[in-house]
Amino acid sequence: MLISKTKSYFKEKLKMALNTAGHGGGILDDLRAKKLAFGRKNPDTLSRFCFGRLREIRKDGLDGARVMEYGAGFLMAEPLIYSLFKARSIDAVDYYSILRKRVLKDYVLEHNWENALGYATQFYGKEWTANWYRNLMSSVRTNTSNWWENLGIRYLAPYDVLRDKSQNKYDMILSSSTLEHVPPQEAQPITKALADKLDEGGVMYHYIHLEDHRDMQNNPFAFLSAQSDYRENDFDIRGNRLRISDWKRIFHTLDGFEIKEYPHEIRKDVHLPSKIDNAFSDYSEEDLKSSHYTVQVTKISN
Ligand SMILES: C[S@@+](CC[C@H](N)C(=O)[O-])C[C@H]1O[C@@H](n2cnc3c(N)ncnc32)[C@H](O)[C@@H]1O
Repeated sequence: MLISKTKSYFKEKLKMALNTAGHGGGILDDLRAKKLAFGRKNPDTLSRFCFGRLREIRKDGLDGARVMEYGAGFLMAEPLIYSLFKARSIDAVDYYSILRKRVLKDYVLEHNWENALGYATQFYGKEWTANWYRNLMSSVRTNTSNWWENLGIRYLAPYDVLRDKSQNKYDMILSSSTLEHVPPQEAQPITKALADKLDEGGVMYHYIHLEDHRDMQNNPFAFLSAQSDYRENDFDIRGNRLRISDWKRIFHTLDGFEIKEYPHEIRKDVHLPSKIDNAFSDYSEEDLKSSHYTVQVTKISN
């Protein structure tokens, strides 16, 4: 345990020395993108997950929807899947411009898309999926730098929703492991700004990771310790430390929206640090040990 804690600490220090610990751009970003591309974001796994989840969130799935992916990350894989699932347009936005274009191209060309196409075929038919795949392949081979635009995807970065004065409206806004990286004092205004971008009946869905990103496996709440070396601006690298009750409060104060919360895990397999930072003294153990918050927000039609 001690060895693994020390390893995570030095791994983070090394990443910081290489300027690749957070999302500001660094020399290991290609590797991080490849790990996602050829690991858990492979088209088969990702489309299976998105397929189930999206139909649960919106009855028609993404058919004809204007979608925003908030925090597109190193790979921008989800927007491809949204396009396969018939979204009308997708704005893949990111605060940092960190997309690894080369890795995205390899992701498209080196994977077998058969299963992903199979999920879409069930609902949209063979003709749609075959045409979509032809379009994907011919677009990626054009060698134009923004080839994804042929699929209705715009990559917008750097993007700051608090400064976005456009009148763009969306039917669906999704984020995954992004909101825990916003500065804590901006979490409420950012959530409100995103909600304001929903059109009537529009839905947003956020998956927020509440653990210390230094060592999520063995020491997921180290950053809550009174002895922690967590610094005020570590939200990008380690997460912003907002607890599930903070997020619930933020989402439940949105006016004119219906809130649905998904069940979340409480990390019963680990202990909290023996002395908790004073800032968290009023929080319950369950609150502190919750690992994720998943929430769906629907704009109520007038
Ligand atoms: C862990 S990555 C997740 C990316 C992607 N959603 C995925 O699942 O691979 C966190 C994302 O948060 C974005 N981010 C970091 N700081 C942010 C901030 N202050 N405001 C908004 N997004 C931020 C990063 O640029 C990055 O895309």
